[in-house]
Amino acid sequence: MKILAFETSCDDTAVAIIENGCRVLSSVRVSQLEHEAWGGVVPEIAARLHAEAWRPVLEQALNQAKIEITEIDAIAVTQGPGLQTSLLSGTTAASFLSLLYGLPLIPVHHVYGHLCSVFLERESSDIEFPALVLTASGGHTEFYLWKNALTWQKLGGSLDDAVGEAFDKVAKMLNLGYPGGPLISKRAETGDRKKYNFPIPNLGKNSLDLSFSGVKSAVRRLIELEENEKGLLSDKFINDVCASFEETCGRIFLKKFQTVLERYPEVKSFYFVGGVSANKYLNKVFSVFMHKYGINLKTPVKIEYSTDNAAMIGAAAYWQMQSEQKSKAAVQYIEALPRLQL
Ligand code: KG4
Ligand code: ZN
Repeated sequence: MKILAFETSCDDTAVAIIENGCRVLSSVRVSQLEHEAWGGVVPEIAARLHAEAWRPVLEQALNQAKIEITEIDAIAVTQGPGLQTSLLSGTTAASFLSLLYGLPLIPVHHVYGHLCSVFLERESSDIEFPALVLTASGGHTEFYLWKNALTWQKLGGSLDDAVGEAFDKVAKMLNLGYPGGPLISKRAETGDRKKYNFPIPNLGKNSLDLSFSGVKSAVRRLIELEENEKGLLSDKFINDVCASFEETCGRIFLKKFQTVLERYPEVKSFYFVGGVSANKYLNKVFSVFMHKYGINLKTPVKIEYSTDNAAMIGAAAYWQMQSEQKSKAAVQYIEALPRLQL
């Protein structure tokens, strides 16, 4: 079964062709750099760039996979959540192709796509259920008890900023650039992780939710104080702030993981997905922590499958098609749903 998948929920135009839910025949992505000048994604610019990019990206994906569109069995597309103008480009292109070639169209939830990124280039039997899966990016930070490929239960998530968003905002405060995650992480390597003691939120001992706005505000206050006292921020100060911030984010997660594993001792494996799973420090501390419970940490096999990509949407659609109920729901035209719930 070959699935042609589209992902245009934010500022990447991505098309992939996936065979049997795990073999990546091609995965192409074009990122929209024009937004950098505006300090964030501008919806109108995103819509124009997606409209310009989807056909050449589709052609590249077909060429890379060395197949004709007539060999495709189904089309998948991110339906939501995301930026409406961006989602519309993908759902319109996918609906158009579905009608033109008479192919079933599978709408996919973006976060379910991230979960299924772990299937890419792995045997499906390698994924051990029940699993704990953390999906963390610039748009969301949530964790799930994943019971089998098609069944999951949301356990908790950030009540305010997504963790990637907090990295991006702290990087902006320190004038490091965008996206902030890799830049903070690099600076943190040479910083002192114990230098600043940022707060760990207390949302009640029964809550599995997270919050990153407190640590972000504490960083802001510290920077303002330093600027008032010293004027310019030294490299050492910046590195220490980055290291202490990254360490605090790690502790915020570990506190919740401990509660989750006490409450759900049946968890056999831990998956870390989404753009933030590229973070080496978080991977290290999560891995050491999980090891104590006899659990291995796994991430998608390539970084390009952690960040937004269409291959994960193709993998998710494959599993949805295995469910009779969902495959019956396959249509040929779908709407974009910017606030779609998982
Ligand atoms: O999944 P993704 O490509 O796009 C969405 O936001 O959906 O994730 C991008 C986010 C950005 O916020 C970026 O700063 C963060 O992932 N990120 C990182 C790292 N690399 C990317 N955050 C922390 N450490 C990193 N090494
Ligand atoms: Zn994402």
